[in-house]
Amino acid sequence: MWQYLMPTKIFFSQRVVEKNKEIFKNFGAKALVVTGRTSSRINGSLSDIENALKSMGIEFYVYDRIEENPTFEQIRQAVEECKTQSFDFVIGVGGGSPLDSAKAIAVLLRNRSLRVEDLYDSNKYSSALPIVAIPTTSGTGSEVTQYSVLTDDTGFKRGFGHDSIFPVIALIDPVYTVSMTVSLTRSTGLDALCHAVEGFLSKKATPISDLYAVESMKLIKENLPKALENPNDLEARTAMSFASCLAGMVISQTSTTLAHVLGYPLSTFKGIRHGDATAAFLDAVVHGAESEIPQKVQKVKEIFGDIKRFIESAGLKIELQLSDEELETWVKRALTAKHMQWTRGVFDELSIRKLYERMRID
Ligand SMILES: [Fe+2]
Repeated sequence: MWQYLMPTKIFFSQRVVEKNKEIFKNFGAKALVVTGRTSSRINGSLSDIENALKSMGIEFYVYDRIEENPTFEQIRQAVEECKTQSFDFVIGVGGGSPLDSAKAIAVLLRNRSLRVEDLYDSNKYSSALPIVAIPTTSGTGSEVTQYSVLTDDTGFKRGFGHDSIFPVIALIDPVYTVSMTVSLTRSTGLDALCHAVEGFLSKKATPISDLYAVESMKLIKENLPKALENPNDLEARTAMSFASCLAGMVISQTSTTLAHVLGYPLSTFKGIRHGDATAAFLDAVVHGAESEIPQKVQKVKEIFGDIKRFIESAGLKIELQLSDEELETWVKRALTAKHMQWTRGVFDELSIRKLYERMRID
């Protein structure tokens, strides 16, 4: 048995915001734009949105204080500041952090009595303000998922999923990704790679998600090296935006698995970018699935050869100092993480500890 729901309407083209500005009128008279401090100004997305809203006569307020790995506290502050105004819809623009924050804020502005913690209890709400997602990186896939990942008050990343936070519209313009640095291109590209591979090998994979996953993996194999080599290669950037969107649709069906679970603390406690942190464990996901689904693992190998080598050739090398206490806490946390249940293979305390230890330096 399998099912499929991905209700987001996708618009994909160069100058996509300008070309489709009429759609904003469908959502009402006032928009909250959620973004980070700088990147949406550098890549031109924010001014495109402001111009589109102005020309449609839509009032808007820009909340631009979303940081990487957004915390509960940052979401509380955003809601506190924005709840004095009345918004009809929320536009998230940027990488995964602004998009995931926009989703959380959209729920909390619609359901005023909820606290951030309540986002994790799906019975406590049934709707959010309509969300328009405009990604400016190619990796998160958040523009087509029902997930949002925030960092809780203890410093750990926690994701929540709810059908009400599927964006109503995703506006994808690959030109916004051209100004990404090489390291951000790598990290976000590797995030998309993890979504495609983890989703393909997940216990929740479906015939539809597999179609998207295979296409996404092929596009990433072909185009991530090109985008890293030549940041202005618009064809490669366009392929990566598409691959990222496909991989987002994959995890909307399959969830993420082991690599995401193990990567989270590297980002919140060691400052390693999400995609890099996650990709450091992707080879373990592939090896873990080998005895259960050898044909699918073979498909991954057909596309990438040795996936660890492909990831390293993108320039990833993670070495970190890790105390015994940190190691124990992370291992324990991983063992109880919800998404471990969708991971194929046997991952116990010892094997998870080994995966963290191989990147450890004294
Ligand atoms: Fe991810």
